[in-house]
Amino acid sequence: MKMSRRGFLAVAGGTGAALTLTSCGQEANPAQAGELLRSKAKLPEPFQVPLPIPPVKKPIRSDAKADYYQVVQRKASLEILPGLKTEAMGYDGILPGPTFDVRSGRTAIVEQVNELDVSTVVHLHGGHTPAPSDGWPLDLIMPANGQHGGHQMGGHMEGGDMTTGRRTYTYPNAQRAATLWYHDHTMDYTAPQVYRGLFGLHIIRDEEEAKLPLPKGDREIPLIIADRAFDADGSFLYPALKDGPGVEAKYMEGVVADVTLVNGAPWPVHEVDAVRYRFRVLNASNARRYELGFDKGPATFVQIGSDGGLLDKPIEHKTLVVAPAERFDVIVDFSQYQPGDEVTVVNRLDGNANVMRFKIARKAADDTRIPATLSTYAVTPRPAGVVRREWRFRRGDAGGHRGWTINGKAFDPKVMQAQVKLDQYEIWTFVTDVHHPVHVHLAPFQVLTRGGQSKLSEFDHGWKDTVDIRPAEVVEVLVKFTAHKGKYLIHCHNLEHEDMAMMAGFETI
Ligand code: C2O
Ligand code: CU
Repeated sequence: MKMSRRGFLAVAGGTGAALTLTSCGQEANPAQAGELLRSKAKLPEPFQVPLPIPPVKKPIRSDAKADYYQVVQRKASLEILPGLKTEAMGYDGILPGPTFDVRSGRTAIVEQVNELDVSTVVHLHGGHTPAPSDGWPLDLIMPANGQHGGHQMGGHMEGGDMTTGRRTYTYPNAQRAATLWYHDHTMDYTAPQVYRGLFGLHIIRDEEEAKLPLPKGDREIPLIIADRAFDADGSFLYPALKDGPGVEAKYMEGVVADVTLVNGAPWPVHEVDAVRYRFRVLNASNARRYELGFDKGPATFVQIGSDGGLLDKPIEHKTLVVAPAERFDVIVDFSQYQPGDEVTVVNRLDGNANVMRFKIARKAADDTRIPATLSTYAVTPRPAGVVRREWRFRRGDAGGHRGWTINGKAFDPKVMQAQVKLDQYEIWTFVTDVHHPVHVHLAPFQVLTRGGQSKLSEFDHGWKDTVDIRPAEVVEVLVKFTAHKGKYLIHCHNLEHEDMAMMAGFETI
């Protein structure tokens, strides 16, 4: 195995060599893991396509206990690039899938029907979900057409609870208001299947949040950002290996692509009133990070929430660094612009590449505010004498191939790397070689230290379920699992790393 120079330097840097942030939140090391995949299709001019808003999913019935939904996973031919057709795999045949908009404490029972020709698994990211509904990567929904799914799962099939054609997931939603998302989690094939469209939002609302005088209705908008590349005929380009899971060696750092989709549209445009808006930003990209900023003018992002719901107090950011799978709930005040102004959201990590544009249409009344106190959320005091665990995210051997490992091990569904007691705080330490966005299922966590310092990055606040760990960095988090016993996952949310084995099971007991 030939180690790249970059890999060698990162490893040689050692675990203690934490990087420091510069004042503007950027880092000294390359921020972007991954290899650029270029489209062959003729790409449209930016800011021509209106921003789509994914439809809200309606229950098929409700009773005293729960709301019941059905989602059909199917192929669809979508016009993503104007004038071309892209075959996508979509929840209800759309990309992104429909948005679930639910009340805290109200159970959602979701039947997922698989009409695709591959096996799938659904995970509710950020959900406090019982293990049988959490989307263990071998709890496959086999295609209804009776075929095996085209996946070469080899000897990996054991240890999964497989169903054919459909599966019912139970989401208690017994957690505070937050912006969650759902996406595919199929063993070895998550990256290509999310890339082709299997992702959507799941918003939980509660009383505490409803009382706040925040923008709502059509002034509360999801921004689901995902980069994709397109072949000349409009089909998705993805450098999958022909003979099994994973990507071509060149892309093992991650696939980053040259078209930015927001809510499924390339570099869209959206007309706004000159008032405050609430945006729920999700980075649904496989590997790309964004540092979102405005090309001109005074607008900032006032963060009100993180992955796991409201912050205690708002935090104002000039730019927003969003790693794969992270969510930022932000308020943007367009009253600082004049009707006729146009303001473009750009990605500062990619030479100010375009993301989308807002056109300020008119002045309008605005009775919203950003309260100084948002939530009773409080930082948990660091407990003494708790169990500590270390999770080391590194390159390594994944079944005879170059891949990615946790604590030196490639993902093995039969191996639980930890037995974790419910209802006890633990301090987990994440250590990296190169850049990895680390995600934990079942429970949110609080970041305690970054690079050995209790001064965190400005993006670490609140309850998180995904934390971006820079090259050769050490981050400590405080976590407590509750209510649900079973098998859960910790993994890198760079989806190419995840598929190439950077995932570990743990068991709550
Ligand atoms: Cu967003 Cu294990 O996943
Ligand atoms: Cu990674």
